[in-house]
Parts: sequence; structure tokens; C-alpha cells
Amino acid sequence: MCGIVGYIGQKNVLPILIEGLRRETYRGYDSAGVVVFNEKADPVCVKAIGKLENLEGKLNNRQIEGVLGLGHCRWATTGGVTEANAHPHWDCQRNIFLVHNGIIENYKELKEKLGKEGHRFSSETDTEVLCHLIEKYFQGNLEEAVRRIIKEVRGTYGLAVISKNDPQKIVTARLSSPIILGINSNEFLVASDPAAILTRTRQVINLDDNEIAVLKPGNFFILKEKPLTQIEWTLEEAERGGYPHFMLKEIMEEPEAIENAIKGRLIPEEGTVKLGGLQSVSERLRKVNNAILVACGTAHYAAMVGEYMFEEYAGIPTKTDIGSEFRYRKPIVNEKTASIFISQSGETADTLAALREMKEKGVLTLGITNVVGSSQARETDAGVYTRSGPEIAVASTKAFLGQLATLAMLTVYLGRQRDMALVMGKRIVSELSNLPELTKEILKSAPEIAKIAKKYKDFENFWFIGRKYNYPIALEGALKLKEVSYLHAEGIGGGELKHGFLALVDEDFPTIAICPSDSVYDKMISNIEEVKARKGKVIAIATKGNEKIKELVDDVIYIPKTLEMLTPLLSVIPLHLFAYYMAVLHGHDIDKPRNLAKSVTVE
Ligand code: AGP
Repeated sequence: MCGIVGYIGQKNVLPILIEGLRRETYRGYDSAGVVVFNEKADPVCVKAIGKLENLEGKLNNRQIEGVLGLGHCRWATTGGVTEANAHPHWDCQRNIFLVHNGIIENYKELKEKLGKEGHRFSSETDTEVLCHLIEKYFQGNLEEAVRRIIKEVRGTYGLAVISKNDPQKIVTARLSSPIILGINSNEFLVASDPAAILTRTRQVINLDDNEIAVLKPGNFFILKEKPLTQIEWTLEEAERGGYPHFMLKEIMEEPEAIENAIKGRLIPEEGTVKLGGLQSVSERLRKVNNAILVACGTAHYAAMVGEYMFEEYAGIPTKTDIGSEFRYRKPIVNEKTASIFISQSGETADTLAALREMKEKGVLTLGITNVVGSSQARETDAGVYTRSGPEIAVASTKAFLGQLATLAMLTVYLGRQRDMALVMGKRIVSELSNLPELTKEILKSAPEIAKIAKKYKDFENFWFIGRKYNYPIALEGALKLKEVSYLHAEGIGGGELKHGFLALVDEDFPTIAICPSDSVYDKMISNIEEVKARKGKVIAIATKGNEKIKELVDDVIYIPKTLEMLTPLLSVIPLHLFAYYMAVLHGHDIDKPRNLAKSVTVE
């Protein structure tokens, strides 16, 4: 997820672009760039790595003036964090300048074709391919060329482009990534987020998929009729997309996080997956006969789900550990061990130290990371990006879904390298592709979950119980509630209750039981009965269609049916929402909980 902004009007464009980018940095902050056309349509393009301040630093003391320009803040997906990969990108003749938010899936084959036709590329990005495609079809009219290229492109885009040879206009197009047009009497803006243009106008048009708009001095047109809408949000609200907190926004983005993780990686016809980031070590992975998954906090619970998946579906003996323990113990590893490190930020000190331990011992190191170019991504031998987009709230939510989806794909990858049958591979891949829709269904029950949270607002202690794939989800649910509502919560394996924990169960200590209709469902029911026998209140996370459970428990939150190994990607969502609504009811600073940091870069 990146941020784009564009302006055409009568004012000096540069401060407007910088202001817009400042409001979009939550969308991407690993590099940024601008291009400004001066009155002679001579382009001045400046890019910088790192925070927006670095770009501003490079722009200071440069007399850059113009009334037309584009800006971009990047969240790298294809191509590392370098100045060459920062946007705007251009074509061979530096006629076309383009900024893009999204992923071009077929960029490799397009790049190869254009290369054969003589085009020279100056970056590793998918986006630059768009510039050379437009160059290929440009015959003096920019929007005509854009209309041609979108027929050849597969993937997602919110793009804006300007051209020296057809100046005095911005052409913008959208497919899945947001594009907002800002309308004023004598100026027009384009952006990924209303926050970027609210200081200039409240009159906006939201572009829909497959639409192209042309902004010119004094008028604009869209290749389809569109209603004008008025934005009421404050600036701060706009940055959160209208949600009251980043945590809720990021929970609502969990379907998209799964979609981004699996996009372009599933090969249904072969019942397998394509993970480009593992290509360089695929033969070494084929020889692996044991695995260790290491991470901290929420990422560690993803690792625990991965352990069940690897053993059951890839037949690889697997251990998990927390980074802060793993770095000081003496793990038994050998040349056939794969050590896999999971981290949203890629900067967690304990996980990095554990990684460096394994590198020291010459063990194969893989990373499952969200932040492109982070230390973990740079130091592991190979890895997979989860593509969840920037996660701002300290409590990790959508990144966790990205990690689980990536672990499920890695299980298929390793399983199909071994004795996982084509039919099983096909089943998992097809269920994975259904998950974004299934997760959207669960989010519709947010109001009910808010009601349940209200009902349990005054309780101060909570058990979370689960078994097998949902034991780690019980741990995750408890951690989320602790992190944002400051209530005491413990996650345990359902079978552990009678080994001591039951002593605490009474009518004041509710239990959240994660019990989808899976291979351990009956065991979970007997655990629920143990709690009910001690007057404990129970909220069940159960599979849609299971009416019987209503007779046993106090409240039920339903999730759709899916494969057992994938139920964690559904069962965790109500727990994220429950924790969020409890935190709202307790009036805490939800996005920045006390005593916590988004990335723990110290031991
Ligand atoms: C989760 O909500 C917490 N923010 C924390 O436990 C986090 O998961 C942990 O610090 C690991 O962070 P990482 O994924 O960036 O390595």
C-alpha cells in the first residue's frame, strides 16, 4: 500500500505535494519522490529513501516551481528499498512520469517483451513497466495510451501519469486501489486518500474500478458519469479512513491482508503455490527434514499454528520458540534444518538475535516479514513478504492474518515438494482462495460482537481456551485483550483446564472457547461442560450451522466453515474485534497502549 498525490492548477505545486504526502505517510514510509513540470513542461524529479523528511531535505534550497506535479510515498512490494525503485518512474525518453499504488502481477512477462523491443529499465519495480507500455502506445494523446495499456495489465493499480509531450493534464486510472479526485474551481487534485487533499477542497469524486479520469486546467472529465460528494471528516479521521482507530481500520483490512498475501501466488491447477522469494533455496528446502519457527508475541502464535500445519500437511518435524528464549538456548540443528523467522516489523531484536545465531551455525534461514528491506528481510537467506501493508496500531491484527496465510502457502510449497498429493494441494489452495470472502462475512457480525463485549464489560478476568490449531489462537485472543483493554486474560489449551486452571473458574471469570466443528470439537465441548459445571460463563466461537451449541453456552459468535488447518484465519477475527470493543468500552488509547511499542528493537 503506497500513497500517491497529484496537482494541476495555478498554485506552486511542490508544497501541495509535500503536504499531501505528509498526510499519506501512514500508507508507506520507506521512500518518497516528486516530479514537477515547470512552465516549459521540463520535468524536475527528486526521490529519496526513508522518511518524507529525507525528501524534503533534498528539496530544500532548490528553486522548484511549477503548477503541475505528482508525488508518491512508497511501501515496497516489488523491488527493494532503493532510490531507483522509489516513484515517480519514467520511460526511456523521460516523457512519461508515473506514480502507482498496487501490484502489477504480470510485470515480468511484460518487462521481458518490452526489453526485446528495446526498452531499457532503470528499476526492479513492477510499476516502471507501465511507463514503457505507455511509451509504446503513446501517439500524442496520453489518456488514449493509458486506455491501451490497462487492457494488457493484470493486477491492481491506482495510478497517475503526466507527459512532457502531452502536458497540461494528469491522467489517472483505478483498479482496486483507491483514487480520489479533488475538485476546486480552478484546480484539481488526485490522491489515494482524502486526507491528502482535504486542506485544498472537500469536493471529491471517488473513481471506481476500470475508470480513467483526465484533469486539465479548468476542466476534467471521467470516462463515465460520477456523483460529486462532500467530505465531512477531520484530517485525523481521514488518515484512519474514517475509522475511529487504526486498530479497527486494520481489523477491517484483514480480508485484504489475506488477499494480498495470496495474490499471484496460488497455482490451483497444480495444487501448489509459487513463492518467488524462495526460488534461490528451493533445492535446499527439498532436503530439509526438520524446521524451527522463531518469533515474538503475536508472530510467535502464528509460528505455533505453522508448527501444526508443517507437521500435519508437509510431514516435517517442527519446533517453535520465542526469540528471547531461542537466542540463549542450545538448539539441536543440522545442515537439514530450516530456521524460519516471523516478524511484522522485521526489526524485533530478540528475533534478529536468534536469526544471527542460526546464521552463525550455517543453518538455512528464512524470513516471513511484512516490512520490505527490514533487517530480517536483508539478513535471512530467503523469504516471503506477507504484503499486509503498513500496520500502525501497536496491537498486531491484519499482519497476523498475513503471516497465517503465508504459513499455509509455505506448508503447501513444502508439502508438494514431498508427499502431499495433488488433490490435497488443490483443496488447500482452493480453500485459501475462498478465505477473503469468508473473512468479510465475519466482519459483518462486528455489531453483535460489540454487544457481547458490552455484556462482559465489567468482568476483569478471562480465559481463552482452544485446542490443536486453535490453541495458539486462544493465546492470541488473550494477548490482544491484555494489550488494549489492560484486563487479565489467559490463553490455555482446553485440555489443560483440569490440570489446575479450573480452580479459578466461577461466575466472575468468563471463558471464550474457540470450538469450530473440527477434529477436536468433542473434546472442546467436554471442556466447556467442565466450565459450565462450575457456573462459568462461556462465549463460544463456533462454526455456522452449529445450532446445538447455543443450548450449552451463554453467547455464540459464528464463523464460516473451512479446512481445519485454516480455521485460525477465521476464528481469530472475532477475538480481535472483542478486544477492540472492550478497549473502547474501557476508554484506553487503543492505537498506542501504555508501556508498549510497535517494534521492540531492544532486548
Ligand atoms: C502484538 O500485538 C504486539 N505488538 C507484539 O506482541 C508483537 O507481535 C511482537 O512485538 C512481535 O513484533 P514483530 O512481528 O514486529 O516482530
